[in-house]
Amino acid sequence: MSKIGMIYASMTGNTEEMAELIAESIREQGLEIEVKEVWNAKAADLVEYDAILLGAYTWGDGDLPDEFLDFYDEMDGLDLSGKKAAVFGSGDTSYPMFGEAVETLTKKLQSLGAEIVVEGLKIELSPGDKEIEECKEFGATFAQKLG
Ligand SMILES: Cc1cc2nc3c(=O)[nH]c(=O)nc-3n(C[C@H](O)[C@H](O)[C@H](O)COP(=O)(O)O)c2cc1C
Repeated sequence: MSKIGMIYASMTGNTEEMAELIAESIREQGLEIEVKEVWNAKAADLVEYDAILLGAYTWGDGDLPDEFLDFYDEMDGLDLSGKKAAVFGSGDTSYPMFGEAVETLTKKLQSLGAEIVVEGLKIELSPGDKEIEECKEFGATFAQKLG
């Protein structure tokens, strides 16, 4: 069975809600997933997983959350080739760089050799009914890509 790891950052709980919905959906597909907040994770741990999910809200002017910066820098030099990955996060469309953290992490994973198997999922603030379904579908699609 693929070993799946999810690392996320959430300040006000929106990305955390996404993380829980996605993880639940993956478990419903019969897979196991380890979920950690980024302050509790080391980038080097990513090499232990077959499949990686990263989640982050966007901060500042299209920036990664502060608590993701060390992890992001520590990713440099890792070989993630052969790993399947996807990225999600909450943002706010009133900012010019909506959900840019999702793009930043996607590019980083790709630059280290990971294969993005589901397009990044950005949602507006807290998930409503439609976004809850999107999160569940994102998780289920990711799980199916690991088959
Ligand atoms: C100071 C500040 C800067 C922000 N900058 C952005 C931004 O550039 N782009 C964006 O999409 N959202 C931005 N946001 C909105 C957050 O990403 C949004 O509130 C998100 O839902 C927070 O997720 P969380 O609940 O997981 O912490 C910003 C919020 C704050 C308070």
